[in-house]
Amino acid sequence: MKIEAPEYIRSIVPYPPGKPIEELEREYGVQNPIKLASNENPWGSSPKALEAIRNGLSNLNRYPDGSNFYLVKAIADKLGFSPDEVIIGNGSDEIIEFLVKAFVEPGDEVITSHPSFLMYQKVVQVRGGVNIILPLKGMHHDLDTILAKITERTRLVFLDNPNNPTATSISPPDLYTFLSNVPESVIVVLDEAYVDFMDLDQQVDVYSLIHNSKGRCGVVALRTFSKAYGLAGVRVGYGLMDKRLADMLHRVRQPFNVNQLAQLAAIAALEDGEFYEQTLEGTREGKAWLTKEVEKLGCRSYASQTNFFLVDVKGDATVLYEAMLRKGVIIRSMKAYGYANVIRISVGTTEENYRCIGALDQCLQELAYVS
Ligand SMILES: Cc1ncc(COP(=O)(O)O)c(C=O)c1O
Repeated sequence: MKIEAPEYIRSIVPYPPGKPIEELEREYGVQNPIKLASNENPWGSSPKALEAIRNGLSNLNRYPDGSNFYLVKAIADKLGFSPDEVIIGNGSDEIIEFLVKAFVEPGDEVITSHPSFLMYQKVVQVRGGVNIILPLKGMHHDLDTILAKITERTRLVFLDNPNNPTATSISPPDLYTFLSNVPESVIVVLDEAYVDFMDLDQQVDVYSLIHNSKGRCGVVALRTFSKAYGLAGVRVGYGLMDKRLADMLHRVRQPFNVNQLAQLAAIAALEDGEFYEQTLEGTREGKAWLTKEVEKLGCRSYASQTNFFLVDVKGDATVLYEAMLRKGVIIRSMKAYGYANVIRISVGTTEENYRCIGALDQCLQELAYVS
């Protein structure tokens, strides 16, 4: 075949998703494995969302509502935004794509941190943009260096707040100072995929950041239904931004980008305060318990503003990851992210957490990582 994709496409490394449960069963012959690797909701989905999906099944011969009217309205009403400031995506991943498609031309620069959510850099590369990748400073976004690296070609700065994988957040005063120094020509994207799990005093007021942006950079907030709302499988997320930015994103999106069942499920999930609160409570309890237990095993845990946390296992993280797989527990090794001895664990149900600690205890002993 004589067809060849451009070099900037050929050099893209495909996104490495957490190992699927089915793959582990197939490859390792493990029964009932558990997955604590993709920061999903271990308690399933909101029962109200599932009921909405069941009720929506009879209409699948029709295209979905391309304007996402009722979901946009539900989000706008809940957060006090105007509907023309809300964009819905097939996961918040898709809104990352919209932003890059709409605002980045080949050769334009986009600033991200390393490590942070890998999709930003991938999407920029697809567009032929230039990734300016700046190391974290002590597991936090290095805001001073980011400011110093902004040039006339900088279009976007992506800040996942909290950051994935380090689970750290930017303190609100630091963020406000940073934003006041970013030039007006730059859009700062605050990716708040894990905002629901943050301590209240760490959450930033995105409403006022977006509405008081006169003479300042554009601020976009991204949120998702994949985590606290338990709807990762139907793919739905949203963005909040000035209506002039939203107008540009509407121009690059497909007319029916969010499927009908996802729209119905998300509307119902927003109304299911009980499931949402139980998720937050279960996450808080699970994280506190897991943290205590890994410390008891001689590991070091890092503070977390999310539904996952990092653990220094004091030995090669990838070897430990493989050993955990053989015991039917899927976690993540952070070795490829530059933390050779660190794993990432997503909080699971009580039973899953218990199994994870049991497997970790055995693996640490077998590998003689801690005495
Ligand atoms: C920081 C961050 N942003 C965005 C996403 C993507 O979320 P969604 O499922 O809405 O595409 C993730 C998923 O893990 C994430 O960790």
